[in-house]
Amino acid sequence: VESMKELPSGAGKIPRLNAVVLGEALASEEDDLVVPSEDFSRQALVSSPQQYLEMYSKSIQDPAGFWSEIASQFYWNETWGSEVFSENLDYRKGAVRIEWFKGASTNICYNALDRNIKAGLGDKVAIYWEGNELAQDGQLTYKELLEKVCQLANYLKSVGVRKGDAVVIYLPMLMELPIAMLACARIGAVHSVVFAGFSAESLAQRIVDCKPKLVITCNAVRRGPKTINLKDIVDNALIESTKNEVPVGLCLTYENPSAMKREATKWQDGRDVWWQDVVPTFPTECPVEWVDAEDPLFLLYTSGSTGKPKGVLHTTGGYMVYTATTFKYAFDYKPSDVYWCTADCGWITGHSYVSYGPLLNGATVVVFEGAPNYPDAGRCWDIVDKYKVTIFYTAPTLVRSLMRESSKFVTHYSRKSLRVLGSVGEPINPSAWRWFFNVVGESRCPISDTWWQTETGGFMITPLPGAWPQKPGSATFPFFGVQPVIVDEKGNEIEGECSGYLCIKNSWPGAFRTLYGDHERYETTYFKPFAGYYFTGDGCSRDKDGYHWLTGRVDDVINVSGHRIGTAEVESALVSHPQCAEAAVVAVEHEVKGQGIYAFVTLIEGVSYSEELRKSLILTVRNQIGAFAAPDKIHWAPGLPKTRSGKIMRRILRKIASGQLDELGDTSTLADPGVVDQLISLSDC
Ligand code: WT7
Repeated sequence: VESMKELPSGAGKIPRLNAVVLGEALASEEDDLVVPSEDFSRQALVSSPQQYLEMYSKSIQDPAGFWSEIASQFYWNETWGSEVFSENLDYRKGAVRIEWFKGASTNICYNALDRNIKAGLGDKVAIYWEGNELAQDGQLTYKELLEKVCQLANYLKSVGVRKGDAVVIYLPMLMELPIAMLACARIGAVHSVVFAGFSAESLAQRIVDCKPKLVITCNAVRRGPKTINLKDIVDNALIESTKNEVPVGLCLTYENPSAMKREATKWQDGRDVWWQDVVPTFPTECPVEWVDAEDPLFLLYTSGSTGKPKGVLHTTGGYMVYTATTFKYAFDYKPSDVYWCTADCGWITGHSYVSYGPLLNGATVVVFEGAPNYPDAGRCWDIVDKYKVTIFYTAPTLVRSLMRESSKFVTHYSRKSLRVLGSVGEPINPSAWRWFFNVVGESRCPISDTWWQTETGGFMITPLPGAWPQKPGSATFPFFGVQPVIVDEKGNEIEGECSGYLCIKNSWPGAFRTLYGDHERYETTYFKPFAGYYFTGDGCSRDKDGYHWLTGRVDDVINVSGHRIGTAEVESALVSHPQCAEAAVVAVEHEVKGQGIYAFVTLIEGVSYSEELRKSLILTVRNQIGAFAAPDKIHWAPGLPKTRSGKIMRRILRKIASGQLDELGDTSTLADPGVVDQLISLSDC
């Protein structure tokens, strides 16, 4: 059986493909193998493991040649120099640095809109917008989208936004959200989208960090049966940021009339401006600001295991090439597709695979403002039928929540248009995978289980739907140009069937370049744990056929419904409560969310626990971070298990939280072993 080909020294290795490559009947050994239909494979961009292998080998042996050939399909105002990329991932050899296409100038908005329009897609629908309520919808062709983007870009210029300036965007899934992102990109401004589920304090923290020229928001949004007053949240955030010496003098506010009339909106004259009053008065053409491939495109804040959120910085050229290419291959994109990704643009998935990746391909994208279970659990399939969606990309948490409802909500709709499904955010458990595959996709649509991160910009390990026999729950093999390695605690690469820490060797075009304002933290967090590699923070195993199985975070990051949240952030929110003395947060398995947040809380002397206090602690976390970070459980803790040096032993807390009381292990090193029994006795309070 063919296993590993040796490559010239310095280059990486191709993955073990073993039996799959040779077309051996894996199915006989692996009952779980799901093979794409011949019809699907025949029409696919990559239709066999062999074809993948050829392309993959080229991408690893000659990354410069591979990526420059792809990059030449885009428009560059000036091309790059002799070096396609240059990098240093080894901090021992100097500062960590990644550069792709440096010296070339381009514009991602131009490539997504103008270039596609020039190629004849002007009248093609770029965005179908579906509102919260049934029958509330809209659409924009590529030409119309460009006009809207140009008007906003011109407005931004008129208020003094220049290349390199930051713009914070706090919007729900209206068309104005991708419009705002593209308008910033057009003039070289750096957008920082903050998910509109974050609280005023979280928004303020991000504003203080990146000091935007203005904030773009809307007055309110309907989500399911609820109305959320976003403008109030922004107002509070701006008060907070002013206290921290970052006053923002301009708040461009879109009136979202189906949620709230402008008369009902709190207003600060001089600072607040209605989008509808100013933006449409600007010309529908706006010249492009050419930027260097390595100029920043956006900042997106994400949680780490310690400290405040990190501003992940992506640059222009590499990100453009990478998101477009991964989108195309991982979803087997064809011009006739209608694509819907349920993610919000407030997360990286919405950046790379609602906005940039699909639009760069000239795709038709569905943007959905509402909640997937409103008015009922059939909403997604209603939308699929309405727009004849062919590619549907979502998160395991949504699959699991819909799976709990009657399958009539699915089968009531035709879903005939669907041909590719996608999953992202956390490992998809095999039973959810099967329900998604069998019930939603009628066993006809391959599932692309895409593993990647905010930091990676785009897909890293993903099936190519026509190429791979799939194993439910495995993200399969690396994308072109990506060299995943599994290392042990000492940082030694382990080969063959194994499990360990997932690292990436060498750079890829979509990699983040730094943490905004803190390159040292960038190096410490990602490049120092295992010298010479990018460390992902995930555990991973590789099976005998070379398939990758992601096993979740190995650091103190919790993945709640595919949203990343640091235990330290939740803890610091809890201890800010006047009656909380100490808190320790761990992840527990959660049937729908994947992981839930479990908080052990010690109250200050003299305060006793109550239902009211529990609610007030949870509210504190909602107010400081956002509703999605609210603990699922508060466990009263008279004391926490600590070592003699005062370190909290989370290992023990995790066991208590998950009820694995017979696996507590050695508790004799605790300063006070008695706290463990105390905690166990309080489990049900
Ligand atoms: C973390 C990154 C990038 C998409 C949205 C989340 C987990 C993501 C998968 C997957 C197993 C996955 C990892 C990763 N993750 N996709 N297909 N299979 N795990 O982005 O907030 O940056 O979180 O999400 O643990 O490290 P993010």
